[in-house]
Amino acid sequence: MKLIITFVFSVLSLTGFAQQNSSLNYREKLSLDKGWRFHLGDIPFPEVKGHLESYFNAKAGKAGGAAATDYDDTNWRILNLPHDWAIEGRIDSTANLAQGYRKRGIGWYRRSFKIDPKDRGKNLELQFDGIATHCTVWLNGNVVHRNWSGYTSFYIDMTDMAKYGDELNVISIRVDAVDQEGWWYEGAGIYRHSWLVKRSPLHIITDGVFANPVKKNASEWEIPVEITLQNSRDFSSDAVIYAALLDAKGNKIADSETSIKAAAMDKTIANLSVKVNNPQLWSVDQPTLYKVQTVLKEKGQVIDTLTTTCGFRTIRFTADSGFYLNDKPMKLQGVCNHQDHAGVGVAVPNSLWDFRLKKLKEMGANAYRCAHNPPSAEFLNACDRLGILVMDENRNFNSSPEYISQLTWMVRRDRNHPSIILWSVFNEEPMQGTEIGYRMVKRMSAEVKKLDTTRPVTAAANGGLFEPVNVSQAVDVVGFNYQMNNYDRFHQEHPNMILTSSEDASAYMIRGNYTTDLAKHTLDAYDTQKASWGATHRETWKTIAERPYLLGCFIWTGFDYHGEPSPFDWPTAGSNFGTLDLCGFPKTAFYIHQAQWIKDKPILQVVPHWNWEHAEGTPIKVMAMSNAEKVKLVLNGKVVGEQKVDKYEMNTWEVPYRAGKLEAVGYTNGKEVSHFTIETTGKPTQIRLTPDRNRINGDGWDAVPVTVEVLDSKGRPVQTANLPIEFELEGPADIIGLGNGDPNSHEMEKGNKRSLFNGLAQVILQSKEGGNGKLNLKASSPGLKSAMLSIEIQPTEDIPSVEVIKPYLLLDKWLLSPISKVKPDPNKEIEGNDMNSWQPVPAGQSRTFSDGSFAVFRSSFTPYLAQQESGGKIMFKNLKGKAEIWLDKKLLAVKKEEAQNDFSVQIPAGKGKRELSVLIETIPGNTAGLGGLVIIE
Ligand code: GAL
Repeated sequence: MKLIITFVFSVLSLTGFAQQNSSLNYREKLSLDKGWRFHLGDIPFPEVKGHLESYFNAKAGKAGGAAATDYDDTNWRILNLPHDWAIEGRIDSTANLAQGYRKRGIGWYRRSFKIDPKDRGKNLELQFDGIATHCTVWLNGNVVHRNWSGYTSFYIDMTDMAKYGDELNVISIRVDAVDQEGWWYEGAGIYRHSWLVKRSPLHIITDGVFANPVKKNASEWEIPVEITLQNSRDFSSDAVIYAALLDAKGNKIADSETSIKAAAMDKTIANLSVKVNNPQLWSVDQPTLYKVQTVLKEKGQVIDTLTTTCGFRTIRFTADSGFYLNDKPMKLQGVCNHQDHAGVGVAVPNSLWDFRLKKLKEMGANAYRCAHNPPSAEFLNACDRLGILVMDENRNFNSSPEYISQLTWMVRRDRNHPSIILWSVFNEEPMQGTEIGYRMVKRMSAEVKKLDTTRPVTAAANGGLFEPVNVSQAVDVVGFNYQMNNYDRFHQEHPNMILTSSEDASAYMIRGNYTTDLAKHTLDAYDTQKASWGATHRETWKTIAERPYLLGCFIWTGFDYHGEPSPFDWPTAGSNFGTLDLCGFPKTAFYIHQAQWIKDKPILQVVPHWNWEHAEGTPIKVMAMSNAEKVKLVLNGKVVGEQKVDKYEMNTWEVPYRAGKLEAVGYTNGKEVSHFTIETTGKPTQIRLTPDRNRINGDGWDAVPVTVEVLDSKGRPVQTANLPIEFELEGPADIIGLGNGDPNSHEMEKGNKRSLFNGLAQVILQSKEGGNGKLNLKASSPGLKSAMLSIEIQPTEDIPSVEVIKPYLLLDKWLLSPISKVKPDPNKEIEGNDMNSWQPVPAGQSRTFSDGSFAVFRSSFTPYLAQQESGGKIMFKNLKGKAEIWLDKKLLAVKKEEAQNDFSVQIPAGKGKRELSVLIETIPGNTAGLGGLVIIE
């Protein structure tokens, strides 16, 4: 018999759409960072066996295991994103050295949330900015995305699958960090932000505005604005797009408008142009930013707005005299960096990007290569704001459609940033000197050019460039990694090609350490150690500075990073390449570059420390980094050396050690321009805490690094101290990480303890959401005077977020028996191969009993652990008709009234899977059944 079941739709859904339609006018971008449940380790999917299980396993919404909507995650750890589980673990000799000897593995995340019925009809999109490394995402039991790169964001249109009201939306993410994409520390987990974006059904898509100013003549600029609209409705629409250029104060400078027909259920691209005269330019010294506000209107009503940032600047690359910013020559003083920091791994709070970039600017760097992957959006915003030029780099060298989409995602997301000057399609690929490599680069470059013709495409090659067919023939700027001996030959052979060093140096040093003992894994900080393929910092800059045709350098690296512990392996767990250590404390290389790069203020720094106990009379190597003309060295009032400054090599002396005061004086044009003093200190007596900022926002995001030192009785920092420090924190903040820059340290990066390494440690504090008042940090160490630090936590508006709710068990997978005239056995077995006489139905929809008066609703479920142990309560919302409730074939309760009402039944404790049968009786023709949600509390 064929069953005819009439669906009486929950009336809300249709009328709701129509009613809400007039108020769909603004986008909301809500943070989805809070309240994730996390499980470390894999949860294998249950084996699928049998007819019915196999059948339903293949159906939408029916994912099993930890991807199922009703999976019990109540005992999982609750945390906020960004999260990197690898950094929480111990350093382990059995793990990969490249990943900093950190175990990575597999983890699961789940998040339940509600969507207001008022949002019906809106376009809803989930956004994940970065998950390391591979992941599969389910929404409401449907697999909705697989992401095969830890460095690309992805966006999931969830509109069709959204549930509203008390029906929960459940995201499950399986993160596979066994796989690696790099040979450096990559972290593990949802390590960048996540979002829920609500928009009008006709809206500007994510990354859908391209508005990058172009200079027309001496005073006129144009911003060609390309806007991509998505219309998720099944009718086309006449829309108006308006774009205004706003200055930093929000004043309108210029605007433009156009009309367009937005196609039904499709994307439409609109173009307009905003003309501007004499804007203020963006430069590294004065990074003036403007905003482009794009407004979408329909029937005179604003239905979407999106604001993007832009900067007015020109970039020019030449084959003979290098790079020009705003027509002024500028040598790129660049650094390469990975994206991790001490204590937090790759889950770097936004404010830490500012901290790191300011350190690089302090060194005199003006450029940054994102090695070897696209960075976070917040990082690029900081580069725009602070004035740092960026080489944005693609991760995977692969020209197949899936990987091309990773590349084009990067360009679409990033092409409005004035900071970005170069797109890099690869780093050091074995196919760089082959025809295949050439063809792949050609294709990748063409894909970039479809999206942006204003910036050149480069590739960082470490060889192959003299092969008959090679990638240099496919790029706009040829990037050399190392191969310094080949710069001139290549330039001579190809005088019209634009060349840059894309990676150089690979010199090693450990901060505050002045001897090299390879057996002990120590490296001196005099810039003497380098990789066989590399050069010292001093050799590198000399080679590059003396070649005007080169755009500049990109030092490997600005900061140390976890992993790739060259030139060592176990027990060294961190890299040694940085000009700053993992915490951002300067090494000698930092001062070398300051002296080489900074022209507008005097620089003078001397190493080493002056605490050489028991070494009286022994010659100590002293190195001065200065941009003066001459440096004089004075020990305890006596001149011990004087040299003309060698601007590349810097200056060194062997000075017989005498405890006391070592001074350096810098002279230019015969006048003293700089002075540096270092003194022999006494024993440490007290701790000093110095925050990077004295005030942070109480938004739960803002984080501040605090420098930890010890001082002697005269208040002088003891640079040789390696004492243990313990921290106690009070107030609305957390310690989110600790570090000390020692690549050989195996101390935990989480917790509240850390030793100083050569006089320094770092503790990173982050406000709690709703934070107001003060945080108080106490640092203590046996025998020393403790330090107290207060940081003001400024009340700040909450970051608009998706509310965190306590998940509850919803029974939403039901089978409905045929409707019959005679009372059926409510516990009748369903035949194993019967996929048709019982219909799968969700709760929340009543049925018309046109063929009789009886029907059975059946659901199998596993109660949450606590409910298995102590029992629970089943709540039937809007149960309609008379009903018998059976659990595991035992009658639990009877509802005698026909009327629709909420009905609750206590269920006894019991382990494992349970079977619930609801026998409904009503008058033929009536609607009856599970008229609302069924929840177990
Ligand atoms: C380069 C590579 C970098 C890093 C560096 C170490 O070849 O591009 O990622 O491994 O060597 O010297």
